[in-house]
This record gives sequence, C-alpha cells and structure tokens, in this order.
Amino acid sequence: SSAANFLNAADTDYAQVKAREVGWAALKAVRQELGNVYLPLIDGKYVETTETVTSVNPSNFSEVVGKIGLISIEQADMALAAAKAAFPGWRKTPAKVRGDILRKAADLMENRRAELSAWVCLEVGKALREADAEVSEAIDFCRYYALEMERLERGYSYDIAGENNRYIYQPRGIALVISPWNFPLAIATGMVVAALAAGNCTLLKPAETSSVITAKLTEILVEAGIPKGVFQYVPGKGSQVGAYMVKHPDVHLIAFTGSQEVGCRIYADAAILQPGQKHLKRVIAEMGGKNGIIVDESADLDQAVAGVVQSAFGYSGQKCSACSRAIVVESVYDAFVMRLVEATRSLNIGLAEDPGTKVGPVIDGKARDRILDYIEKGRTEAEVALEMPVPDTGYFVSPTIFSNVSPDGKIAQEEIFGPVIAVIRVKDFQEALKVANGTNFALTGGLYSRTPSHITQASAEFEVGNLYINRTITGAIVARQPFGGFKLSGVGSKAGGSDYLLQFLEPRVVTENI
Ligand code: NAD
Ligand code: ALA
Repeated sequence: SSAANFLNAADTDYAQVKAREVGWAALKAVRQELGNVYLPLIDGKYVETTETVTSVNPSNFSEVVGKIGLISIEQADMALAAAKAAFPGWRKTPAKVRGDILRKAADLMENRRAELSAWVCLEVGKALREADAEVSEAIDFCRYYALEMERLERGYSYDIAGENNRYIYQPRGIALVISPWNFPLAIATGMVVAALAAGNCTLLKPAETSSVITAKLTEILVEAGIPKGVFQYVPGKGSQVGAYMVKHPDVHLIAFTGSQEVGCRIYADAAILQPGQKHLKRVIAEMGGKNGIIVDESADLDQAVAGVVQSAFGYSGQKCSACSRAIVVESVYDAFVMRLVEATRSLNIGLAEDPGTKVGPVIDGKARDRILDYIEKGRTEAEVALEMPVPDTGYFVSPTIFSNVSPDGKIAQEEIFGPVIAVIRVKDFQEALKVANGTNFALTGGLYSRTPSHITQASAEFEVGNLYINRTITGAIVARQPFGGFKLSGVGSKAGGSDYLLQFLEPRVVTENI
C-alpha cells in the first residue's frame, strides 16, 4: 500500500547547536515582520476589506503578530462564484499534475521550515519544537494526499466476459474548509490539500486567532502554482461569514475541525436543502475529546507519569488529543498522584519561544477565563493537588491537577481545553475501562499496563478512535497513526489515513456491454 512506502518528513533536531541557532535567527527575522497586514485571496487576487482582525502573541499580548482582512458576505459570494468557474478546469487536471503542485508546496514548506515554526510559535504560543513537528505534519499531508489521489485515480476494474466495469472517482465540487487555531498550520493544510488533491475547488476559512499562519500557507500555495479560483483564502468571522458559506447552495462539502458545539451547528446547517441546491452536502467534522489514560496496577509508573505529564500539559493541554483524565487503580493511586504532582511541579512555565519552556500560554483571554471558570468549578467538586504561579505578560494558566474527581463531575466530563487534569480513583481495571468509556467523546485514549489480558481487552473495548498503549496519547503521525474519533468527537474517517480522501470524492461505475 502507499502508506507502507510513505516517508515522513523529519523533525528538526534541536539537540544540535546549529538547529537551535537557525531557530532563534528565524524568530528574530519573523519579529521584523510583525504587524503586517494580510488580505484574503479571491479569484487569484489579494482583495481589500472593510474589516480587519488583530492577531496577537498569546505569550505577550502587547505584541501584534499581524492584521488580517476579513471578507464580507459579498466577497464570500465572489469567492464562491470564482470557485465555480474554476472547477471544470481543475476537475480535468490529472491527479499527478495536481499532486505536483502540492509536492512543490511541501518543498517550499521544507525550505521555510524554521520561519513557519517561528510564526506558529509567536501567533499561537506553541513551543518551537512542537511548532516544528506541525510543519512536518503539514508537509506530510501534502505529499501523502498527492500520492493517495494517484492511487485512487486508477480506480478499479471489475470486468467479466462481455462486460467491462470501471469503478472511478470524481471530485465533489466546491469544498469549504473551516479550521481551528490549535494546529494552525497542520490541520488547515491537511484539510485543504486533501480537498485540492481530490480535484475540488477549495476555500479556507481559518480561525480568527490564527489567520497569519494560514496567510503564509496561502503564499506557499500560490507560489507552488495553484490556479486562480482553485484555492481561495477567505478569513472571516465564523459565526457570520463562516455560517453563511456553510449554508450556501453552491458548497458541496464542508471539512471542519473544531469544537463540538460548532461542529454540531455546521452539521445541522449543512443538512438544510437551500433553494436552488441540487445535492446534499457532505460534512466532515472533527471535534473535541475528553481523553483518558488508564494506569493499572502493573504499569511502569516512571513511564506512566512521564506520559501523562506530556499528554496533559504539552501545548498547555490545547490539543483535541490531550489527556484530561487519568484513571488510576486504587493500589497505585497514591503513589501515582504524588509522582504526577512532583513531575508537573518541575515544568517551566513561560514564553513559548524560550527554549526551557514546557508550558506556554493559552490562546486568548476568553480561553483563559473559560479555563479558570472550570478550575473554580473543580474546587467545589474535587481536591486541588497542584497549582503553580504563572507570569502575567500573557494568557497564562497554571498546570492544575485535581485528585479524587468523581467520574461524573463536570471537570471529568466536559472538554476544558487547557492545562487541567482530573485524576479519578477506581477499584480495578474493569471499573477503569467503564469510567474511561463513560463520556460522550471517543477521540484518543491510553493505557499503561504490563498485563497482556488488559491490553487485549482495551484494544477491543476502549471506545476511542486512537488508542495508545504504554506511550503518550498525542502526536499522531501521517500514514502511521491515521487520526480521528467517533461518538461526539466527530464524523469522518481518519486524517492521514487511506480512507480520508474518499470523503472528498464521488464514486461512479461505468458499465460497457462489449
Ligand atoms: P471552534 O469550534 O471555536 O472554531 C473552529 C472554526 O469554526 C473557526 O474557524 C471558527 O471561526 C469557525 N466557526 C465558528 N462558528 C461557526 C459557525 N457558526 N459556522 C461556521 N464556522 C464557524 O474551535 P477552536 O477553538 O478553533 O478549536 C478548538 C476545538 O477544536 C477543540 O474543541 C478541539 O478539541 C477541537 N479540535 C479537534 C481536532 C480533531 O481532529 N478532532 C483537532 C484540533 C482541534
Ligand atoms: N493529530 C494531533 C495529535 O495527535 C491532534 O496530537
């Protein structure tokens, strides 16, 4: 299969002095460009707008990263008309030619790796090492979906004597991509290049707080040779122009990644047949999680503590894959909590760009206040096992550990999307599995265990899209851990996996009597 032959882009090795120097130089160079204005790209041209949004550095919100022009409803209509006009040409373009543009984009990203990592770091407060991994993932998506489409374009033959049957795929039409801020480059790129590889004309509406990095993606796609109207950059307010485009009769497909609330809204809005609409819309919605890691009596606690700390507090817990529940059996509970607290206490909290930082800021003031509200709620439901002082230059929230949390508590059930973990005590592994499955979500999950029967049972019964055994539960890699969940974590097949592109295509069968 193509997955077996696929070579993932290599992350930067920051242990090398040279690599660290390149990283710092890029941060310095990017700082010279802060505050620039970025405009939407419609029908091959950057267009002026009446409204803009300011994107700030969450580590230091006095620093303006950039200003982004927001499209109006009229400009959304113009973009949709341009996409419609460009579709006949793009659908006829062979997969190899489309793929070559995406491979060129991947090469450009590789050349600009340090710079792109610096933009991610400054715009969304992600540590350089994790920002760099995101650049790798974006590159992988370009190359992987380009390759996948070449495989699918060949289709299938089901011929018998006297009859030829050709099974083929065609693009759906116009794809609207709505992306989140937390993987501002990788997730936006993944959804966009999948739609493009499959031959759809694609509009990207990024999250307001991460529109500069997606403007960089736009520059890259343009430089790689994407034809006008085929890809368009349409930043705007989600609830306004985003919702408008979701409901537009000319949109065939919506690829969304974000919160459960917005995902459910889009699913409902897209289901309504609009006047003049001659198709039903396909919705791919990747949503949140309330991911648990089970630690049983046979677990290697050194490994379990390190894995939970990394999964819960990496990027301040702002990953859909992050661990927000540790479900620990009674016999090792006290030892685990004590060690989890001590390991977390040693994490440095600071600016995302500082090499020693382990926990950076959260994305904005609204997110900080929401997380702090959950922490207040948690105090009434459980015991605070750890809180730490934080800097006041940015939107910082302390890594927070709650112990003796009830499995039904608010902080054990709702996605907080911050550096907060609920530790839940259970009698044994059977109860652990029940608690782990006792949420509305099914995205990632983990098990630390050296008991083969537990590992076998978890593989079969732990209801998550991505289960990780004896390792961290974040950091899925394209074509190795295709990623995505079910239940209220999403509808759609796995990003970075061999079923993903099928969602962007319409299958057809042509039978010829010969
Ligand atoms: P969000 O739902 O607030 O916003 C996502 C996008 O939707 C943004 O571009 C926003 O502008 C747009 N939007 C908002 N309202 C809209 C509407 N009514 N119609 C159309 N578009 C609208 O999410 P976020 O805060 O950007 O991201 C964090 C969330 O994303 C978390 O819940 C996280 O778990 C989830 N997430 C999931 C995955 C996954 O693969 N399952 C990956 C990353 C993030
Ligand atoms: N794909 C991202 C991860 O696995 C969300 O952490």
